Amino acid sequence: MKLCYLGEAAALLLSHSSLARAALPSNTTSWQQYVYAPSERRLTPVAVLSTTGNVTNAEALVSGSGIATFNRTAVQTSFPSWPSGTTAQASSEAGSNTVNGATRTYYANNAIDGDLTTFWNDATAGEYPDTLTITAPSAVTLDGVTLESVSDGVPVDYTIETWDGSNWNTAGSVTGNNGTRSRVAFDSQISTTQVRLTVTQAQSLGNGEYSRVAELWPGLVADDSVAEAVLDFGQNVVGFLSIEFVGASNNAPGIELAFSESLEYLTDTSDFTRSDNGDKITQGTDHIAVPEAPTNWTDALGCTYNGEQVCSDGLHGFRYLKISIDTLASDDKYSTPSGWVDIASVSLNFTAYLGTPASYSGWFESSDTALNQYWYAAAYTNEMTIDTFLLDTVDVRNTGNQTLEGKTVLFDGSKRDRDPYVGDIAVSGKTSYLSHQDTAGAVYNVLADLGDHQSSNGWIPPASLFNYGVNLFDYPFWWVVSFWDYILYTGDVDPVRPYYGNLQNLLDNWVPTVTDSATGLLNKSDSQGWGDYGFLSRYGIVTYYNALYVLALQDAAKIANLLNETSDAEKWLQQADTISQAINDNLWDASVGAYVDELGGTRHAQDGNGIAVIAGIANSTQAASALGYLADNTAKFWGNAFMDDDSLGSGTSDRVYAFISYFDLDARFLIGDSDSALDEIHRLYGTMIQSDPGITFWEGVGTNGSAYEQAFTSRCHGWSTGVLPVLTHYVLGLKATGPGYETFSIQPAFPTNLTWARGQEATPHGDIYLEWTADDDNTRTITFSSPAGTLANVTVPKASSVSLDGDVLWSSSNQTSGGDGVAVGDNFVTLIDVASGNHTVVSK
Ligand SMILES: *[C@@H]1O[C@H](CO)[C@@H](O)[C@H](O)[C@H]1NC(C)=O
Ligand SMILES: *[C@@H]1O[C@H](CO)[C@@H](O)[C@H](O)[C@H]1NC(C)=O
Ligand SMILES: *[C@@H]1O[C@H](CO)[C@@H](O)[C@H](O)[C@H]1NC(C)=O
Ligand SMILES: *[C@@H]1O[C@H](CO)[C@@H](O)[C@H](O)[C@H]1NC(C)=O
Ligand SMILES: *[C@@H]1O[C@H](CO)[C@@H](O)[C@H](O)[C@H]1NC(C)=O
Ligand SMILES: *[C@@H]1O[C@H](CO)[C@@H](O)[C@H](O)[C@H]1NC(C)=O
Ligand SMILES: *[C@@H]1O[C@H](CO)[C@@H](O)[C@H](O)[C@H]1NC(C)=O
Ligand SMILES: *[C@@H]1O[C@H](CO)[C@@H](O)[C@H](O)[C@H]1NC(C)=O
Ligand SMILES: *[C@@H]1O[C@H](CO)[C@@H](O)[C@H](O)[C@H]1NC(C)=O
Ligand SMILES: *[C@@H]1O[C@H](CO)[C@@H](O)[C@H](O)[C@H]1NC(C)=O
Ligand SMILES: *[C@@H]1O[C@H](CO)[C@@H](O)[C@H](O)[C@H]1NC(C)=O
Ligand SMILES: *[C@@H]1O[C@H](CO)[C@@H](O)[C@H](O)[C@H]1NC(C)=O
Repeated sequence: MKLCYLGEAAALLLSHSSLARAALPSNTTSWQQYVYAPSERRLTPVAVLSTTGNVTNAEALVSGSGIATFNRTAVQTSFPSWPSGTTAQASSEAGSNTVNGATRTYYANNAIDGDLTTFWNDATAGEYPDTLTITAPSAVTLDGVTLESVSDGVPVDYTIETWDGSNWNTAGSVTGNNGTRSRVAFDSQISTTQVRLTVTQAQSLGNGEYSRVAELWPGLVADDSVAEAVLDFGQNVVGFLSIEFVGASNNAPGIELAFSESLEYLTDTSDFTRSDNGDKITQGTDHIAVPEAPTNWTDALGCTYNGEQVCSDGLHGFRYLKISIDTLASDDKYSTPSGWVDIASVSLNFTAYLGTPASYSGWFESSDTALNQYWYAAAYTNEMTIDTFLLDTVDVRNTGNQTLEGKTVLFDGSKRDRDPYVGDIAVSGKTSYLSHQDTAGAVYNVLADLGDHQSSNGWIPPASLFNYGVNLFDYPFWWVVSFWDYILYTGDVDPVRPYYGNLQNLLDNWVPTVTDSATGLLNKSDSQGWGDYGFLSRYGIVTYYNALYVLALQDAAKIANLLNETSDAEKWLQQADTISQAINDNLWDASVGAYVDELGGTRHAQDGNGIAVIAGIANSTQAASALGYLADNTAKFWGNAFMDDDSLGSGTSDRVYAFISYFDLDARFLIGDSDSALDEIHRLYGTMIQSDPGITFWEGVGTNGSAYEQAFTSRCHGWSTGVLPVLTHYVLGLKATGPGYETFSIQPAFPTNLTWARGQEATPHGDIYLEWTADDDNTRTITFSSPAGTLANVTVPKASSVSLDGDVLWSSSNQTSGGDGVAVGDNFVTLIDVASGNHTVVSK
């Protein structure tokens, strides 16, 4: 008892000492500081990250003044050689080994044999000096020597000595070398029979610290290394690159361009070009044969010669660009891997949606700056995927249907696939409506086009890819959900009406063909090669497809009711209940307290469990248990994995799809577990935003936060932007519940560590503005304004009292207060149908 009293006294003291109302910054435009989009379409690099070979004044490409020169000496093909009878001895030799069935030697002699494919390798990793002594049968006269080393064994510090008949004399020394070709010019010619190389430091790389010398040439050989520069555009961007060439040597020097979203996959080949999807045009780099006269070049899909030589890919999504003087073997009739090129500017014509502060119809800000960054990073990621569908810039795999050409669409990713997919839109569509209302048309264009391409059996294709032929099992249901979202966020019902017949056809004709008669559940047969969002082979009765089917039936019923098709609505809601019951009867795994992934299996998945909670299939006990199971068994520092074991494929229990994590996050907020939702958000979005290229969110995350499909991975995918809708819906606490916010809910989650949030959303009736503060003494204050034509339900935690505009509508000491306008639950009090206008709700 005593302890208890002391505790209460201490708590009282603490709360009195910090009773100040949580500070809501007065600057209501401060959210604009988080906007990531460029302010104009013409973008230039922000930094030169490195150069190799002879590049002068590369900084001109950043500063915009002056000219950068790339200059590469003609590639050397003949080299000085030692007289026959010359021998070589080394301090040690690594001997020989067998690589791919062939014996390879590492003797000293390899350094004087004129063969660039063999090399001397010392045998003492990290121990110095390493010496190589060359003895000629008679004196040779030298201007200097040239050391050609192997890229993973470059001598960094070394000395060259010559023998004068009685002594070794130093002829030159080098420190800090990092090139494979390194020259030592002698002060004057030296005649000698012996030359000695002494290495005192070699490059330290992953495979040991060794001196690896392909040749030590008796003479000076020009450095013909590739002249190249790596430019950084500062963030992931998309569009057409232009280069302003202001002069070049008259040998058509070749310029190669390699693009990459990350430094990890920046090589001499782009991390992705259409050639990766079967296009024959480029070989992974864009190539230019630079003319002597000044020329402004703009990247366009096509080739300069014969339709197949000196080609470029056109549009790119990337952050980094490597520019090199080089050519491709297939192009060497038309360009030369040497010469000089003067460049006055490199710029990008940014083609995606330009999300400036003025274009935001909705915004969000809170006391947690990391959450604010995720919200605007999600908005930017999505903007990068909103672009015109042009035959030259979309996926090469038969996606170029003329029915979409010229329309603005919501693509899946900026770099690839560059095709709109309807499952992706279940998340990216919400992000569109909540950030830029004027992008709703880009979503509608995709939904309508896929509806127009419905198969005669009722199935709706997921995308235009393969001429509307990708057999996905789950995406037809996302089409239904996405059409309801379109109505919910825009209030625009009329454009949906023409597709009602497609909806009936899908649910009433196609679904029965994929239904199991014994259980009534959807059964994905393996005979039709069905895939899903992860293109993984899950067959039979899968919880995810069935839970998603229930969600689609519920949304279809809402559409039907709006269109006065009430008998369809009743039928579909009845079916939703039947399927929900069958899911609970067949797929609930009481041994762990979560739904199994497949009937009869032991794996548990994020998709089926999350959507079962959202669709109300799981009761409150099941919901808490299933989400708790996933938190305990799938959490990684880079998010929550989508499977709890690897039985679906190697690495699947490490793989995180931010796409499907959206439904897990939504479910956590729905059951009131905002702390676990925010913990998952910080792990997943924190990992991506802190990784290269920063800002934009990835298609998939693999083991230890890696890009799950290496270079091919899209690091800018709209389906991974679900953090934006969950923050608006639950942390700000504003959510449409009826078409065009005709009815909406206000229910901030009041997460533990946040003291305030505010934001705005556009509706067809006008803007809704909302802000809340949470004080140390548990006073929660919500202030909002809503336009005529809207009605709000406001839900706040059940404390001692709840007031609306100063009138106490419920209090714990007077249970009769309130009346019709108030619904009281175990933990919450809801103010029903609050009229439009300016209001303050206080719970304390
Ligand atoms: C409000 O914040 C924005 C964005 O940080 C800033 O540009 C602006 O100057 C601020 N306005 C005032 C009055 O402080
Ligand atoms: C590099 O190129 C510049 C001209 O751009 C030239 O003046 C200079 O001699 C070259 N340097 C070397 C080491 O080749
Ligand atoms: C390019 O560099 C070479 C030396 O490597 C030099 O001789 C030549 O003058 C340079 N070209 C120009 C245009 O500066
Ligand atoms: C190699 O060394 C030169 C001279 O110190 C430096 O400018 C260059 O950046 C280095 N290159 C690499 C790839 O480290
Ligand atoms: C290239 O573009 C720049 C900037 O627009 C312009 O000043 C220049 O005249 C153009 N050069 C050519 C050869 O068209
Ligand atoms: C940028 O690209 C768009 C789309 O292809 C094109 O319409 C526009 O003219 C381009 N702008 C410039 C400055 O090249
Ligand atoms: C566009 O789609 C229609 C209908 O599926 C098909 O007949 C036509 O061949 C497609 N066009 C192209 C260019 O793929
Ligand atoms: C549905 O019926 C109601 C009542 O008859 C009518 O007011 C409304 O306009 C109808 N809606 C549609 C979409 O036809
Ligand atoms: C939820 O469903 C489970 C499994 O069917 C059942 O055991 C439990 O009683 C239900 N709980 C509630 C609160 O309805
Ligand atoms: C709140 O913030 C503290 C301090 O950063 C942290 O330790 C704690 O885990 C956070 N709590 C939640 C629920 O996020
Ligand atoms: C508020 O909730 C009540 C009870 O669920 C419902 O009847 C009413 O339509 C809701 N109003 C709004 C504006 O959402
Ligand atoms: C309790 O609330 C009712 C309804 O608002 C009100 O009429 C009554 O006076 C209140 N009683 C007390 C003791 O405050």
